Amino acid sequence: MTTPTHIGDGLLARLPALVPALASAHRVAIVTDANLERHGHLEAACRGFAHRPTCMVLPPGESTKTRDTWARVTDTLLHAGFGRDSALVALGGGMIGDLTGFVAATFQRGIPFVQVPTTLLAMVDAAHGGKTGVDTTHGKNLVGAFHEPAAVIVDLDTWATLPDAERRAGMAEVIKHGVVADADYFARVAEMLPPSRTPFALDAVVRGSIHIKSTIVAQDAREAGVRKVLNFGHTIGHAIEQRAAYQLAHGDCVAIGMVVETRIAVALGLCAPDVLPTLVDTITRAWLPTRVPATIETAAIVAATATDKKARAGRVEYALPRAIGAMAGAERQYGIPVDDDIVRAAIDASR
Ligand SMILES: NC(=O)c1ccc[n+]([C@@H]2O[C@H](COP(=O)([O-])OP(=O)(O)OC[C@H]3O[C@@H](n4cnc5c(N)ncnc54)[C@H](O)[C@@H]3O)[C@@H](O)[C@H]2O)c1
Ligand SMILES: [Zn+2]
Repeated sequence: MTTPTHIGDGLLARLPALVPALASAHRVAIVTDANLERHGHLEAACRGFAHRPTCMVLPPGESTKTRDTWARVTDTLLHAGFGRDSALVALGGGMIGDLTGFVAATFQRGIPFVQVPTTLLAMVDAAHGGKTGVDTTHGKNLVGAFHEPAAVIVDLDTWATLPDAERRAGMAEVIKHGVVADADYFARVAEMLPPSRTPFALDAVVRGSIHIKSTIVAQDAREAGVRKVLNFGHTIGHAIEQRAAYQLAHGDCVAIGMVVETRIAVALGLCAPDVLPTLVDTITRAWLPTRVPATIETAAIVAATATDKKARAGRVEYALPRAIGAMAGAERQYGIPVDDDIVRAAIDASR
Protein backbone atom coordinates (compact mmCIF):
# COMPACT_ATOMS: atom_id res chain seq x y z
CA MET A 1 0.00 0.00 0.00
CA THR A 2 1.39 3.40 -0.86
CA THR A 3 1.27 6.18 1.71
CA PRO A 4 -1.18 9.01 0.86
CA THR A 5 0.96 11.97 -0.16
CA HIS A 6 -0.26 15.52 -0.76
CA ILE A 7 1.92 18.18 -2.39
CA GLY A 8 0.89 21.81 -2.84
CA ASP A 9 0.71 25.34 -1.46
CA GLY A 10 -1.04 26.26 1.78
CA LEU A 11 -1.47 22.67 2.97
CA LEU A 12 -0.33 23.32 6.57
CA ALA A 13 -3.66 24.95 7.37
CA ARG A 14 -5.54 21.93 6.03
CA LEU A 15 -3.88 19.10 7.96
CA PRO A 16 -6.99 17.57 9.64
CA ALA A 17 -8.98 17.95 6.43
CA LEU A 18 -6.34 16.03 4.47
CA VAL A 19 -5.57 13.24 6.94
CA PRO A 20 -8.41 11.07 8.31
CA ALA A 21 -6.14 9.75 11.08
CA LEU A 22 -5.74 13.31 12.41
CA ALA A 23 -9.42 14.16 12.12
CA SER A 24 -10.42 11.01 14.03
CA ALA A 25 -7.67 11.13 16.69
CA HIS A 26 -8.83 12.00 20.18
CA ARG A 27 -5.65 13.98 20.87
CA VAL A 28 -3.06 15.41 18.47
CA ALA A 29 0.46 16.65 19.27
CA ILE A 30 2.66 18.57 16.86
CA VAL A 31 6.41 18.06 17.33
CA THR A 32 8.62 20.68 15.71
CA ASP A 33 11.81 22.72 16.22
CA ALA A 34 12.36 26.36 17.15
CA ASN A 35 13.13 27.49 13.58
CA LEU A 36 9.74 26.30 12.35
CA GLU A 37 8.06 28.14 15.19
CA ARG A 38 10.10 31.30 14.52
CA HIS A 39 9.09 31.35 10.85
CA GLY A 40 5.38 30.98 11.66
CA HIS A 41 4.97 27.47 10.25
CA LEU A 42 3.84 26.02 13.59
CA GLU A 43 1.13 28.65 13.88
CA ALA A 44 -0.01 27.90 10.32
CA ALA A 45 -0.19 24.18 11.13
CA CYS A 46 -2.29 24.77 14.27
CA ARG A 47 -4.81 26.92 12.39
CA GLY A 48 -6.65 24.01 10.77
CA PHE A 49 -7.55 22.28 14.03
CA ALA A 50 -10.83 22.95 15.82
CA HIS A 51 -9.05 22.35 19.15
CA ARG A 52 -5.49 23.62 19.38
CA PRO A 53 -3.12 20.62 19.38
CA THR A 54 -0.43 20.13 22.02
CA CYS A 55 2.80 21.65 20.62
CA MET A 56 6.33 20.56 21.49
CA VAL A 57 9.08 22.85 20.24
CA LEU A 58 12.55 21.24 20.38
CA PRO A 59 16.00 22.80 19.87
CA PRO A 60 17.01 22.63 16.16
CA GLY A 61 19.91 20.45 15.05
CA GLU A 62 20.99 16.83 14.84
CA SER A 63 22.11 16.85 18.50
CA THR A 64 18.42 16.81 19.50
CA LYS A 65 17.85 13.42 17.77
CA THR A 66 18.66 11.30 20.84
CA ARG A 67 17.13 8.74 23.18
CA ASP A 68 16.96 11.50 25.82
CA THR A 69 14.71 13.60 23.61
CA TRP A 70 12.69 10.50 22.67
CA ALA A 71 12.12 9.92 26.42
CA ARG A 72 11.28 13.57 27.05
CA VAL A 73 8.69 13.72 24.26
CA THR A 74 7.22 10.36 25.32
CA ASP A 75 6.99 11.46 28.97
CA THR A 76 5.31 14.72 27.97
CA LEU A 77 2.65 12.73 26.08
CA LEU A 78 2.12 10.35 29.01
CA HIS A 79 1.95 13.23 31.46
CA ALA A 80 -0.65 14.99 29.31
CA GLY A 81 -2.79 11.84 29.25
CA PHE A 82 -2.27 10.88 25.61
CA GLY A 83 -3.49 7.34 24.87
CA ARG A 84 -3.67 4.89 22.01
CA ASP A 85 -6.27 7.06 20.27
CA SER A 86 -3.72 9.86 19.70
CA ALA A 87 -1.75 10.94 16.66
CA LEU A 88 1.47 12.91 16.15
CA VAL A 89 2.48 15.43 13.51
CA ALA A 90 6.19 15.74 12.63
CA LEU A 91 6.58 19.33 11.40
CA GLY A 92 10.16 19.95 10.30
CA GLY A 93 13.20 18.48 8.59
CA GLY A 94 14.51 14.93 8.78
CA MET A 95 15.65 15.36 12.37
CA ILE A 96 12.09 16.04 13.57
CA GLY A 97 10.65 13.39 11.21
CA ASP A 98 12.96 10.60 12.39
CA LEU A 99 12.56 11.46 16.07
CA THR A 100 8.78 11.96 16.02
CA GLY A 101 8.34 8.83 13.92
CA PHE A 102 10.27 6.82 16.49
CA VAL A 103 8.16 8.21 19.33
CA ALA A 104 5.03 7.28 17.32
CA ALA A 105 6.42 3.80 16.58
CA THR A 106 6.94 3.03 20.25
CA PHE A 107 4.29 5.07 22.10
CA GLN A 108 1.76 2.53 23.45
CA ARG A 109 3.25 0.08 20.90
CA GLY A 110 2.54 2.40 17.99
CA ILE A 111 0.24 5.30 17.16
CA PRO A 112 -0.30 7.01 13.77
CA PHE A 113 1.87 9.93 12.76
CA VAL A 114 1.95 12.34 9.84
CA GLN A 115 5.10 13.55 8.16
CA VAL A 116 5.06 17.25 7.29
CA PRO A 117 8.56 17.72 5.83
CA THR A 118 9.85 21.29 5.55
CA THR A 119 13.41 20.86 4.23
CA LEU A 120 14.11 19.75 0.66
CA LEU A 121 15.95 16.71 2.04
CA ALA A 122 12.93 15.65 4.07
CA MET A 123 10.43 16.46 1.28
CA VAL A 124 12.21 14.25 -1.24
CA ASP A 125 13.81 11.65 1.00
CA ALA A 126 13.59 11.40 4.80
CA ALA A 127 9.80 11.68 5.12
CA HIS A 128 9.21 8.68 2.86
CA GLY A 129 9.83 5.00 3.39
CA GLY A 130 9.02 4.54 7.08
CA LYS A 131 12.54 4.60 8.56
CA THR A 132 12.48 6.27 11.99
CA GLY A 133 15.06 6.47 14.76
CA VAL A 134 17.58 8.34 16.86
CA ASP A 135 21.37 8.67 17.05
CA THR A 136 23.65 7.26 19.76
CA THR A 137 27.26 7.99 20.68
CA HIS A 138 28.16 4.93 18.56
CA GLY A 139 26.75 6.49 15.41
CA LYS A 140 23.74 7.89 13.60
CA ASN A 141 20.35 6.13 13.33
CA LEU A 142 21.49 3.10 15.33
CA VAL A 143 18.26 2.77 17.32
CA GLY A 144 14.98 2.91 15.46
CA ALA A 145 12.04 1.19 13.84
CA PHE A 146 10.18 0.96 10.56
CA HIS A 147 6.92 2.88 11.05
CA GLU A 148 5.08 4.06 7.96
CA PRO A 149 3.44 7.51 8.32
CA ALA A 150 -0.35 7.73 7.92
CA ALA A 151 0.29 10.45 5.33
CA VAL A 152 2.99 12.78 4.01
CA ILE A 153 1.95 16.41 3.53
CA VAL A 154 4.38 18.64 1.62
CA ASP A 155 3.47 22.32 1.89
CA LEU A 156 5.61 24.01 -0.77
CA ASP A 157 5.13 27.39 0.96
CA THR A 158 7.62 26.32 3.65
CA TRP A 159 10.41 26.49 1.00
CA ALA A 160 10.32 30.31 1.16
CA THR A 161 12.08 30.39 4.54
CA LEU A 162 14.52 27.53 3.89
CA PRO A 163 18.17 28.73 3.94
CA ASP A 164 20.27 28.22 0.79
CA ALA A 165 22.54 25.72 2.57
CA GLU A 166 19.52 23.47 3.23
CA ARG A 167 18.31 23.81 -0.37
CA ARG A 168 21.73 22.71 -1.59
CA ALA A 169 21.83 19.77 0.82
CA GLY A 170 18.55 18.40 -0.52
CA MET A 171 19.74 18.74 -4.12
CA ALA A 172 22.36 16.04 -3.51
CA GLU A 173 19.56 13.50 -2.93
CA VAL A 174 17.59 14.83 -5.92
CA ILE A 175 20.62 14.34 -8.20
CA LYS A 176 21.06 10.86 -6.68
CA HIS A 177 17.47 9.98 -7.59
CA GLY A 178 18.16 10.91 -11.21
CA VAL A 179 21.34 8.82 -11.37
CA VAL A 180 19.85 5.69 -9.81
CA ALA A 181 16.55 5.62 -11.68
CA ASP A 182 15.76 8.17 -14.39
CA ALA A 183 18.01 9.85 -16.97
CA ASP A 184 15.23 12.22 -18.15
CA TYR A 185 14.62 13.40 -14.61
CA PHE A 186 18.37 13.92 -14.14
CA ALA A 187 18.49 16.08 -17.27
CA ARG A 188 15.45 18.13 -16.22
CA VAL A 189 16.93 18.74 -12.76
CA ALA A 190 20.28 19.73 -14.27
CA GLU A 191 18.51 22.41 -16.33
CA MET A 192 16.86 23.95 -13.26
CA LEU A 193 20.04 24.50 -11.27
CA PRO A 194 21.08 26.34 -9.17
CA PRO A 195 18.39 25.89 -6.52
CA SER A 196 18.35 29.64 -5.76
CA ARG A 197 16.72 30.35 -9.13
CA THR A 198 13.37 32.08 -9.13
CA PRO A 199 11.12 30.50 -9.99
CA PHE A 200 12.68 27.17 -9.03
CA ALA A 201 10.45 24.31 -10.16
CA LEU A 202 10.14 22.91 -6.64
CA ASP A 203 6.86 21.21 -7.37
CA ALA A 204 8.38 19.19 -10.23
CA VAL A 205 11.45 18.26 -8.19
CA VAL A 206 9.43 17.14 -5.17
CA ARG A 207 7.01 15.10 -7.30
CA GLY A 208 9.77 13.55 -9.43
CA SER A 209 11.94 12.54 -6.49
CA ILE A 210 9.05 11.22 -4.38
CA HIS A 211 7.91 9.12 -7.33
CA ILE A 212 11.37 7.58 -7.68
CA LYS A 213 11.92 6.94 -3.97
CA SER A 214 8.45 5.51 -3.33
CA THR A 215 8.56 3.26 -6.40
CA ILE A 216 11.85 1.78 -5.17
CA VAL A 217 10.73 1.44 -1.53
CA ALA A 218 7.45 -0.21 -2.61
CA GLN A 219 9.47 -2.99 -4.24
CA ASP A 220 11.75 -3.58 -1.25
CA ALA A 221 10.68 -1.96 2.03
CA ARG A 222 13.33 -3.75 4.15
CA GLU A 223 16.32 -3.02 1.91
CA ALA A 224 17.08 -6.61 0.92
CA GLY A 225 17.63 -5.74 -2.73
CA VAL A 226 16.71 -2.84 -4.97
CA ARG A 227 16.30 -0.30 -2.11
CA LYS A 228 20.09 -0.51 -1.78
CA VAL A 229 20.43 1.66 -4.90
CA LEU A 230 19.36 4.59 -2.73
CA ASN A 231 22.68 4.16 -0.92
CA PHE A 232 24.52 5.45 -3.99
CA GLY A 233 27.06 8.04 -2.77
CA HIS A 234 26.38 7.13 0.84
CA THR A 235 29.03 4.50 1.60
CA ILE A 236 31.87 6.94 0.90
CA GLY A 237 29.62 9.87 1.94
CA HIS A 238 28.97 8.44 5.41
CA ALA A 239 32.66 7.60 5.83
CA ILE A 240 33.66 11.21 5.06
CA GLU A 241 30.87 12.52 7.30
CA GLN A 242 32.13 10.36 10.15
CA ARG A 243 35.80 11.27 9.66
CA ALA A 244 34.82 14.97 9.57
CA ALA A 245 33.13 14.44 12.96
CA TYR A 246 29.79 15.45 11.39
CA GLN A 247 31.07 18.99 10.81
CA LEU A 248 30.37 18.72 7.06
CA ALA A 249 26.80 18.77 5.72
CA HIS A 250 25.34 15.38 4.79
CA GLY A 251 24.49 16.65 1.30
CA ASP A 252 28.08 17.79 0.73
CA CYS A 253 29.41 14.37 1.79
CA VAL A 254 26.92 12.53 -0.43
CA ALA A 255 27.88 14.73 -3.39
CA ILE A 256 31.57 13.86 -2.94
CA GLY A 257 30.57 10.24 -2.30
CA MET A 258 28.70 10.05 -5.63
CA VAL A 259 31.81 11.29 -7.47
CA VAL A 260 34.15 8.78 -5.75
CA GLU A 261 31.72 5.89 -6.20
CA THR A 262 31.22 6.71 -9.88
CA ARG A 263 35.02 6.62 -10.25
CA ILE A 264 34.96 3.17 -8.64
CA ALA A 265 32.28 2.04 -11.11
CA VAL A 266 34.35 3.34 -14.04
CA ALA A 267 37.49 1.61 -12.69
CA LEU A 268 35.60 -1.68 -12.45
CA GLY A 269 34.42 -1.30 -16.05
CA LEU A 270 30.78 -1.18 -14.94
CA CYS A 271 30.13 2.40 -16.04
CA ALA A 272 30.97 4.46 -19.14
CA PRO A 273 33.71 7.04 -18.35
CA ASP A 274 31.65 9.98 -19.71
CA VAL A 275 29.16 9.63 -16.82
CA LEU A 276 31.75 11.14 -14.49
CA PRO A 277 32.10 14.61 -16.11
CA THR A 278 28.33 14.85 -16.54
CA LEU A 279 27.80 14.11 -12.85
CA VAL A 280 30.60 16.45 -11.70
CA ASP A 281 29.17 19.29 -13.81
CA THR A 282 25.64 18.85 -12.41
CA ILE A 283 26.83 18.59 -8.81
CA THR A 284 28.94 21.72 -9.25
CA ARG A 285 25.99 23.66 -10.66
CA ALA A 286 24.01 22.67 -7.55
CA TRP A 287 26.78 24.43 -5.54
CA LEU A 288 27.83 21.11 -4.05
CA PRO A 289 31.46 19.96 -3.65
CA THR A 290 33.03 17.23 -5.80
CA ARG A 291 36.45 16.88 -4.15
CA VAL A 292 37.48 14.93 -1.07
CA PRO A 293 38.61 17.43 1.63
CA ALA A 294 42.42 17.61 1.93
CA THR A 295 42.19 17.34 5.72
CA ILE A 296 40.83 13.79 5.64
CA GLU A 297 43.27 10.99 4.81
CA THR A 298 42.38 8.32 2.29
CA ALA A 299 43.21 5.50 4.72
CA ALA A 300 40.88 7.01 7.31
CA ILE A 301 37.99 7.10 4.84
CA VAL A 302 38.61 3.51 3.75
CA ALA A 303 38.74 2.40 7.39
CA ALA A 304 35.46 4.18 8.10
CA THR A 305 33.69 2.39 5.22
CA ALA A 306 34.35 -0.93 6.95
CA THR A 307 32.27 0.10 9.95
CA ASP A 308 29.40 1.13 7.71
CA LYS A 309 26.24 -0.97 8.00
CA LYS A 310 26.74 -2.09 4.42
CA ALA A 311 30.01 -3.96 5.12
CA ARG A 312 29.54 -7.69 4.65
CA ALA A 313 32.12 -10.45 5.27
CA GLY A 314 35.31 -8.47 4.65
CA ARG A 315 34.71 -6.51 1.46
CA VAL A 316 32.50 -3.45 1.61
CA GLU A 317 29.52 -3.48 -0.76
CA TYR A 318 28.66 -0.48 -2.92
CA ALA A 319 25.66 0.62 -4.96
CA LEU A 320 27.29 1.65 -8.25
CA PRO A 321 25.94 3.30 -11.41
CA ARG A 322 25.96 1.66 -14.83
CA ALA A 323 24.85 4.89 -16.54
CA ILE A 324 22.91 8.02 -15.63
CA GLY A 325 19.52 6.51 -14.79
CA ALA A 326 20.56 2.88 -14.24
CA MET A 327 22.42 0.97 -11.55
CA ALA A 328 24.80 -1.96 -11.96
CA GLY A 329 24.64 -5.28 -10.12
CA ALA A 330 20.94 -6.24 -10.41
CA GLU A 331 22.02 -9.89 -10.39
CA ARG A 332 23.57 -9.48 -6.94
CA GLN A 333 20.86 -7.37 -5.32
CA TYR A 334 22.74 -4.15 -6.15
CA GLY A 335 25.44 -4.72 -3.53
CA ILE A 336 28.81 -4.85 -5.31
CA PRO A 337 31.84 -5.85 -3.19
CA VAL A 338 34.89 -3.71 -4.00
CA ASP A 339 38.55 -4.24 -3.03
CA ASP A 340 40.07 -1.54 -0.82
CA ASP A 341 42.85 -0.70 -3.31
CA ILE A 342 40.28 0.32 -5.95
CA VAL A 343 38.48 2.45 -3.37
CA ARG A 344 41.78 4.08 -2.34
CA ALA A 345 42.65 4.94 -5.94
CA ALA A 346 39.20 6.45 -6.55
CA ILE A 347 39.49 8.62 -3.43
CA ASP A 348 42.99 9.79 -4.38
CA ALA A 349 41.81 10.65 -7.89
CA SER A 350 38.98 12.77 -6.40
CA ARG A 351 41.23 15.28 -4.60
N1 LIG B 1 14.34 8.36 7.61
C1 LIG B 1 15.03 8.43 6.49
O1 LIG B 1 14.82 7.66 5.55
C2 LIG B 1 16.08 9.49 6.36
C3 LIG B 1 16.67 9.74 5.12
C4 LIG B 1 17.61 10.76 5.02
C5 LIG B 1 17.95 11.50 6.15
N2 LIG B 1 17.36 11.24 7.35
C6 LIG B 1 17.69 12.02 8.54
O2 LIG B 1 17.27 13.37 8.33
C7 LIG B 1 18.08 14.23 9.13
C8 LIG B 1 18.53 15.39 8.30
O3 LIG B 1 17.40 16.09 7.83
P1 LIG B 1 17.44 17.64 7.47
O4 LIG B 1 18.55 17.91 6.56
O5 LIG B 1 16.05 18.00 7.04
O6 LIG B 1 17.86 18.30 8.85
P2 LIG B 1 17.08 19.10 9.99
O7 LIG B 1 15.78 18.51 10.30
O8 LIG B 1 18.06 19.22 11.09
O9 LIG B 1 16.83 20.53 9.31
C9 LIG B 1 17.90 21.35 8.93
C10 LIG B 1 17.73 22.79 9.43
O10 LIG B 1 16.70 23.44 8.69
C11 LIG B 1 15.79 24.08 9.58
N3 LIG B 1 14.50 24.14 8.88
C12 LIG B 1 13.70 23.11 8.56
N4 LIG B 1 12.69 23.52 7.78
C13 LIG B 1 12.83 24.85 7.62
C14 LIG B 1 12.10 25.85 6.90
N5 LIG B 1 11.05 25.52 6.14
N6 LIG B 1 12.53 27.12 6.99
C15 LIG B 1 13.64 27.45 7.70
N7 LIG B 1 14.39 26.55 8.38
C16 LIG B 1 13.98 25.26 8.32
C17 LIG B 1 15.83 23.23 10.81
O11 LIG B 1 15.41 23.94 11.95
C18 LIG B 1 17.31 22.88 10.89
O12 LIG B 1 18.02 23.92 11.49
C19 LIG B 1 19.21 13.38 9.68
O13 LIG B 1 18.94 13.09 11.02
C20 LIG B 1 19.15 12.11 8.85
O14 LIG B 1 19.61 10.99 9.55
C21 LIG B 1 16.44 10.24 7.46
ZN1 LIG C 1 21.27 10.92 2.28
